[in-house]
Amino acid sequence: MNTLEAITGRRSIRKFKPEKVDRETIEKIVAAAAYAPSWKNTQVTRYHVFDDQTIKDTIANNYTLGFAYNVGTISHAPQVVAITAVKGRSGVEKDGSYTTNKGDAWLMFDAGAATQTFCLAAYEYGVGSVIMGIFDAEKVAQLLRIPENEVVVALVPIGYPDESPDAPRRKSVADLLSFVNDQRG
Ligand SMILES: Cc1cc2nc3c(=O)[nH]c(=O)nc-3n(C[C@H](O)[C@H](O)[C@H](O)COP(=O)(O)O)c2cc1C
Repeated sequence: MNTLEAITGRRSIRKFKPEKVDRETIEKIVAAAAYAPSWKNTQVTRYHVFDDQTIKDTIANNYTLGFAYNVGTISHAPQVVAITAVKGRSGVEKDGSYTTNKGDAWLMFDAGAATQTFCLAAYEYGVGSVIMGIFDAEKVAQLLRIPENEVVVALVPIGYPDESPDAPRRKSVADLLSFVNDQRG
């Protein structure tokens, strides 16, 4: 699979076969995700994998902020990855001040780049995934006993796909792209 095939062929998968992804495969996926770019190579993103049915059901039924669509996906996924990021490093100077006026938003940027890299690597190994943002991150952090110095950014259910959805419509290049004219006047 080449890079463009991976980028365009990856889909959000919300229905999975029951079999779990083995640890070795998950390790390979994270080893690839480790190559994602990050603020000053701080590599703040962490991956906490869980498969306990009670934990999955607790999150699905109580912490999905009323977004019913996420309930079944989390409950039925064989495993879920809580993507977290270590606080206070990305976008932050050694003295604790922010490098730019975006403050610590670069943490989210780094976690996003790493999460997409994770999902693309998973796709290469035949593992489906979906990035989820609609859940109560603080409740999930408490339930999973995530270290205090990390913030939960996204949940990513993973497993072998039991669906092959079409790509949702994309905006045209004309909508997305502009070349800034360097002839001012
Ligand atoms: C930041 C972010 C949050 C998302 N949150 C959810 C979510 O809570 N539930 C869900 O089913 N999909 C979620 N998605 C997946 C998007 O719906 C999906 O990427 C989009 O519809 C395009 O489909 P594709 O990934 O198959 O190309 C999220 C994606 C991103 C990047």
